[in-house]
Order: sequence, then structure tokens, then C-alpha cells
Amino acid sequence: MPVFEIGAEDFLLDGRPHQILSGALHYFRVHPDQWADRIAKARLLGLNTIETYVAWNFHAPTADAFDTSGRRDLGRFLDLVADAGMHAIVRPGPYICAEWDNGGLPTWLLREPGVGVRTSEPRYLAAVQGYFDALLPLVVERQVDRGGPVLMVQVENEYGAYGDDAAYLRTLAQMLRDGGVTVPLFTCDQADDAMLARGGLPELHRTATFGSRSPERLATLRRHQPSGPLMCMEYWNGWFDAWGEDHHVTDPGATAGDLAALLASGASVNLYMLHGGTNFGFTNGANHKGVYRPTVTSYDYDAPLAEDGTPTAKYAALAEVLAAHHGTPRAAVGGRAPAPTPQVPVPREVRSLWPLVDAADGWSTHDAPPTHDDLDAFTGFVLYRTEVQVGEAAVLDLSDVRDRAQVFVDGRPVGVVDRRDGDRALTLPGPGAVVLDVLVEDLGRVNYGPRIGEHKGLVGPVVLDGTPVTGWRTLPLPLEDWVAAAAQPGSTAAGSTAAASPPAAAAVVTPRPGPSLTTWDLPGMDAADLFLSTAGWGKGVVWFNGWNLGRFWSAGPQQTLYVPAPLVRPDNNRVVALELAAAPDAALRFVDGPRWTAVTQ
Ligand code: GLA
Repeated sequence: MPVFEIGAEDFLLDGRPHQILSGALHYFRVHPDQWADRIAKARLLGLNTIETYVAWNFHAPTADAFDTSGRRDLGRFLDLVADAGMHAIVRPGPYICAEWDNGGLPTWLLREPGVGVRTSEPRYLAAVQGYFDALLPLVVERQVDRGGPVLMVQVENEYGAYGDDAAYLRTLAQMLRDGGVTVPLFTCDQADDAMLARGGLPELHRTATFGSRSPERLATLRRHQPSGPLMCMEYWNGWFDAWGEDHHVTDPGATAGDLAALLASGASVNLYMLHGGTNFGFTNGANHKGVYRPTVTSYDYDAPLAEDGTPTAKYAALAEVLAAHHGTPRAAVGGRAPAPTPQVPVPREVRSLWPLVDAADGWSTHDAPPTHDDLDAFTGFVLYRTEVQVGEAAVLDLSDVRDRAQVFVDGRPVGVVDRRDGDRALTLPGPGAVVLDVLVEDLGRVNYGPRIGEHKGLVGPVVLDGTPVTGWRTLPLPLEDWVAAAAQPGSTAAGSTAAASPPAAAAVVTPRPGPSLTTWDLPGMDAADLFLSTAGWGKGVVWFNGWNLGRFWSAGPQQTLYVPAPLVRPDNNRVVALELAAAPDAALRFVDGPRWTAVTQ
């Protein structure tokens, strides 16, 4: 069996120096029917390795579940890497950052008072042990020394940017060894002396993360990893986006030039990202360095392979560098063919959310408002309802909203409290006895820094004109149930109170009230990637044949939602959108490629 080791100067594969040329590809951000295509394009680029994180919370929705089927089939993903003749690097966390909800840590764990986060705290470590017990068998049997693709396994992630509990790192490494990991273990940290010192252990190989000035960063790494090969474990060749901020793009020429210098030095590299993919559903994370900034649905990352897998100008520039490095001809790659642009002018059905909410199971009563975490609502929306007596121009102070609250009085919208803006209060119209609804959206849990694990929902007291509001009823929105009922072609959701829509041929475009659930029938078509345009829509979520494509928001910069070709059916396709605002446009439109808008002028 092959032997992979860390030598005095180089990585050694069967005793020979081996330079790792890797690309990051997260199986959890790509439709499983497209994994092989993305891996093949990595190979064509000139890479020899695929790196992936493992997102614990993607596999473990509850404490006693561990799902490795379908899109969670990490074993199949690693087998496809092996089938392509490539190696793999696995980074199982337990914390991964990655712009992923809660940095991959399960909310059911961190909701418990006093449970440690990324420390030696016993309940945290016991849960990690359970995670490793479930995960490691499928990694261990695919290690290179057993004939599989896995070369190395990472311990934690940039721990030096977070903590200094060396015993925690040592325990994780021991758990990995006890679980059967025999290949080299390593850590990664930003190319910063203090972080590299805190984030590693003498017995684990240190690597660094950076995106420019490679010679200088490698010199920093060398101070902390005095022997053996140098590796940039995350060569940031692009960047992620936040709602309400401009889309990031980086210059392919600069990236390629810097990569050439890095490779010429003999260092190994992992392109972060080779292919970013999509934060489908409610999987995006957020950053909070003074201000809360949720990450958008697309994880395009301006990577060499775009969100839909199309090779970009950056791919071509990097292929040039890698071909020169290998002394082989550069791979020829095609660009994006225009995607089909079907239009459906009129929905099949537009349903106000209020009758659905009133008929839903799952309401509970509380004196003070609970958090989402108290309700086991780990992602998505919770509706808080109460009745209040409002005086003239009463001030409703929600104090701490995580993350966005839409406030309704007797079903009519009266305002939004958005954490991104530092809002906390608004004025209610009065006077009178009214039903107060507060619809709170978790926009994504923080994935970096001390706010990892913070709770969502209405976290502080809710006060009306100085008096705490009590007597709440709450409902985590059962969106998946509603969508499942609406998503079957030919079905009409049970309990519908909405009028049937006009026939699809009608020329009238019905404006959508908010909040609402809208359904369209898109005629069957040949499988092809699609880009759903959300221009003219407000804020919400879209499902395509039951698959949650993710959030849209007029805040920009993202203006399209990516529909992977394997979701498109030849017979009939059903699209369901949750729209939170009153949207001026109820037509369903697809455009020929991704669209981004400039946010800051
Ligand atoms: C760090 C983390 C990654 C990712 C990048 C930014 O390097 O280790 O998980 O968050 O930042 O994309």
C-alpha cells in the first residue's frame, strides 16, 4: 500500500518528494450528481488533490442522527476523487468556519447552557467524540495506506485565531488517532506569528492560510514549522460576499502570478476555493466583527470554477501556471453556454401566509418570548404572536433581534427591525387592542470569532412603552411541510384558502402580497443549469422541485439563484417562493447566467 509521510524537507509519497497541488471543493455545497464533473475539472486544471471540510451540522441535524446518504455521502465523494486518480485531504473540524452556519458546529449542542465551544469542556468533547465515532470509519477505510485517496487529516481550523487551549487540540488529535487515523495530522492558521504559535502543537505539522505575498507568508510559517514541507492550506484566490455589499472579484493575473511564485518555492498548495458552489437552504454563515454581516446564498467565491462549474478566466490563468509548472500543454476549456431562459408570466397560486400560519400545528405558549434555540428551531423563521393594548404612537422595543424582525399589527406590516442596521425599536400605530405578529428570520449563524454558538430569535426583553410584553404564542414556520404540499406537480396544498390562479396562458401578472407563498408550474424541459432571476422581488426563499435553492434579497449583490441541472425534470417543474415583502412582480423568469448588482455606488 502507498505510504505518505512528512519528510525532513518534503511530503513523501512512497519515499519520493511529493508536491500537493490541491483544490477545495465542499461536497455539501454541490449537487451530488455534479461532484464527478467538478472533480474532473480539477484534474484537468493540473491539480492532484481535492480538499474538503466535513460540516458536522450537515450530517447531524439532531444529537442522535448522523446522515451519510445522498448529498451527505462523503464516502461516495471520496471514492469519486479516487476514481479520478486524485488524492484527498479531509478537514473534519469539528469547527470549520467556511462561511457555513455556526462554523459547522451543531446548534443542538451549543444551545445547552454552559457547554464549551472549541475547548476541553467535557460535554463539548463528549459530543465531538460521538461525531468522530460516526464519521471516522468512512474516512479511515479510505486512507492512502489502505489503498484509498486520503493523504492527510486536519485538526480543528485556524484555532490560533480563537483560543489557546492546547490540551483541547491534543485531545482532538488523540481522538483522531484512536478512531483509526494513521495518515499525517496537521493544523492550519493564518500567517501570523501569534496565531501560528497558539493554533498548533509541536507534534502536528503546521500549515498556513493566506491569499497573497506568498514568499513573505511562507517565511512566517517557516518560523513556526522549522522542518519539513511548507504548505498554504488555503490559498484564497477569491472571496465570499455579504448581503448589502459588493460582489468580490480578484484579478486572475495577480492570483496566477502569486501562485507561480508559491509553486516555484516548492511549497504545496490548496486553492481555496477551486469551486465554491452554493449555500443551499439555510446553510450560510455570517461574520460579526462589530457589525453582523450574513453571507449570501451563492458561494461562487470568484473561484476558478464558477458557482455552476463553468471554468472562468481565473481557471485559464491558473491552468497556464500549472501547465508551465508540470511542463505539459495547458488544458483547453470552454466558457459558459447561455442558460435557457424560460418565463412563466403568471403563478399557479399565490397564498397569503396568514391562513397557513393560523392552521399550522406547532404553536406553543410562553410568558416571555423564547429564543429560536429554546424552540429547537435551529434555522429559518419563527413567528411570535401576542395581543397588546396600544396607546397613541406606542414604541415597541425588541432590544436584541437576531437577526431580522418583520412587525405586523392585525396582519398589516408596520416595519422591520434589522440587526445589520443596529435597529431595535419602532412605533406601532394606535390606539386600540391589536394582534401583534413579529416574524423573526435567522439570517445565518456566526461562523468566526467569539459569537459562534450565539442564540437566535428575540433574545432580549420585548417592551411596549416601557412595559414588558408577555403572553406570547410562537410558531417555527413549517416551511418544508408547506412546500412539500405545494411542490408536487398537480397538487394543491391542503387547507388552501387562496383562490385558484388563472390559467398559465393568462396575460395578467398578479402582484404578490406579503408575506406569501407563491407557486409556479414551469413546463418540463431538458436538464440544464438555470439561473432564476430575483430582480424585482423583495426578500425570501425559493424551492425548485422541493430543493431549497436558498435566500434571495433585494439588498443585493446577488440577483439570481442557481438551479443545478439535475433538479430540472422533463415532465413538469414546480417552483415555490416564500416572499416576505409585497413583491411588485409575480412572474417567474430565468436569465442566461449569474447576475450581480453593484451595491455601493
Ligand atoms: C479562513 C477559514 C476558512 C474560510 C476562509 C475565508 O481561512 O479557515 O474556513 O472561512 O477563512 O473564506
